[in-house]
Formats: sequence, C-alpha cells, structure tokens
Amino acid sequence: MKLWKKIGLASSVIVGAMTLVACSSNRSSGTTTSAKDITIGISMPDKALQRWPAAADDLVKDLSAKGYKTDVQYANSSTSTQSQQVQNMANKGDKYIVIASQDGTTLGPAVAAAKKNGATVIAYDRLIMNTPDVDYYATYNLQGVGKLQGESIVQKLGLDKGAKGPFNIELLGGSATDNNAPQFFKGAMSVLDPYFKSGALVSPSKKGVVDNFQQVAIEWTQQAAQTEMQTRLNSFYTGGKKLDAVLAPNDAQAFGTISALKAAGIDPSKVVITGQDCESQNVPLIVKGAQYMSVYKSDVRLADTVTSMISDVTAGKTPKTDSTSANGKKEVPTLQLTPKAITKDNVKSELVDTGYITAKAAGLN
Ligand code: BGC
Repeated sequence: MKLWKKIGLASSVIVGAMTLVACSSNRSSGTTTSAKDITIGISMPDKALQRWPAAADDLVKDLSAKGYKTDVQYANSSTSTQSQQVQNMANKGDKYIVIASQDGTTLGPAVAAAKKNGATVIAYDRLIMNTPDVDYYATYNLQGVGKLQGESIVQKLGLDKGAKGPFNIELLGGSATDNNAPQFFKGAMSVLDPYFKSGALVSPSKKGVVDNFQQVAIEWTQQAAQTEMQTRLNSFYTGGKKLDAVLAPNDAQAFGTISALKAAGIDPSKVVITGQDCESQNVPLIVKGAQYMSVYKSDVRLADTVTSMISDVTAGKTPKTDSTSANGKKEVPTLQLTPKAITKDNVKSELVDTGYITAKAAGLN
C-alpha cells in the first residue's frame, strides 16, 4: 500500500473515531451540537481549472461521511463575488467556512463577519492575508512545489551531473493576486539560482532572473501563458536559438506553453516543461513526453486534513498543525502536506494505481 494511502487510512480511522465524539456540549443550555446540525461553507475561486471542483467534491465527500452538511460556492474568479458568498455563509450561521481564496488580500471584512458569527475559518491551499480572522491553514508545502519543479529541470538537463550548457530557459510565474505564486517561484529559484550564477542556465528574455517574481507574474490561465511564450519566442528565439526549458508553475501554464511552442514549430518534447496539479488534460501529455513533469497535490489528502481539523474543533480539541504562516496580521497555525513530482515514470504508480485517474484517461493504453 502506498504511503499516502496508509496515511489517508490512518487519518480516516482517527477522524472516524473523533466523529464519535464530534459533538460539542453547550453546558449552559444542556444541549449538544452534533455534526448533522453543523453546516460547512466551502468557498472555491473558480471552476475554470479542474482542481477546484475536484477539491470541493473531495471535501463534500469526506465531510458528508462524517455527517456534516455542506454548502459549496464558486466565485467565478471574482473577489467581490467571493466576499459576498463568504458574507452570506456568515449570515446563515455556517459553523465552519473553508476558503480557497481568489485573492487572499480582499477577504478581511467577510472573514471578520464570519468570526463575529462564531465561525471557524480555515484557509484551504491559499492563505488569507492581512487579517486576524483566519484560524487554520491547510496546504501543501508551497516552496516545496517550486523546488520539485526546479529539481526536475536540473536533473533532466543533467546540470546535477555537471552538464555545462549553457541551456536556455524561460521562467513563468503564477498570478500576482495569489499569495502562493511567489512562494512557488521562490522554491524553484532556490534550486535554479546557482546554475544561473555559474552560467550553465541563461534566460534570453532575462525575465524573472534572478528571483524577480513580479517580472514573470501572469494570470493562471492557458491563454496568458501562451501569449507570453509567443511574445518571448518571437522576440528572443529568432535565428534558430534553441529553447531548452520552461519553468511553468502549473498545468494551465504548461498547456499554454506547449500550444505556443507547437504554433512556433518547436517540438515540446525537446523542451523540459514543468507543471503542477496533474490536471487530466496534462497527464496524457506527460505520458507522451510533451510535458516533462507535474506536481501532484492530492485533494483527497487535503480534504482529509481539513476534515480532521473540523472534527477536532467540534470535539473541543486543538487541531494538529506543524508550522505557522505569517499573513501580515497573525501567525496562522498551518498543516503542510508534502507534494510529489510526477513524470511519465511514475504516472502509473502514483496516479493510476491510487485511483486518481484511469489508465485510459492517462493515455497509458
Ligand atoms: C494553487 C495551484 C493552482 C493555481 C491556479 C494555486 O494557488 O496552489 O494548485 O494551479 O493556484 O489555480
């Protein structure tokens, strides 16, 4: 059995045991609140990427199995819609509000209302910034994601074995409104910087070098990445200059990058392209070799983590955390899971055998 499955199983057993005691007593009135009386508001940023609906589905599955009611809302990538939706959850008296923020800096008033109404606020995947009104944060190690991307480039180009290059690389960052994006970039640059310094890596566009996230921050969409890469190819790769690698921070940007390369007549399998999320449209590209790698952050494990946090709070216990994250107003108790690099060599063992995707959808047969 895979380690994460074991962890998942162990945590389900623990969560299951906690559910038995998942009722908080209200001593003054002598009543008890059990899971079935509790609604969990779940606020997700968008449905454009597969990962957010998948995350919501896994949360609903886990929480419903423990008897909780759930209310899922999507913000259609709008900060004001998300604030309004969280505000409504607060007004309805949801006891817990789990939020993957569209823009972590804009939710202060909405989460303040939630806290005022007695809710516990849990930040999911992305931290909610500049507010004291966030109780817990469940995520994957953010710089760890970027490190896996950087290490994959280093290994595939043979830099760790002494290859001198120089190799041409282009760096892309995620959305400037997402607090995660600079963290991913920082992790990747911590691995790539020494090779820029030694001259084994060079970036013809110079964008983002060295560790300048603002220069490479672009929307988390295929189209934004495609447009950016088309511009760079036209401006910096004329006269047969070869592109060796692209640091694409997620699968949407990897997909856009691949489209731009194809449109320019470049074979993407000759370029080391990274990604994140193991989106179902990207996994077959990894199997075919058009995208070199992605980073897997199992939503099932993150849903287990959030469900454990909620069961603990309901039972009057302090949830297990392993670190804190500074959000500008407080150190938010955080639990960080470990992300996993996926290449075509472990698509079967990590994604198919675990039930995340079928062999057919992965392009394996
Ligand atoms: C998430 C990534 C996702 C990106 C775009 C980030 O905050 O951590 O998994 O690809 O947002 O939605």
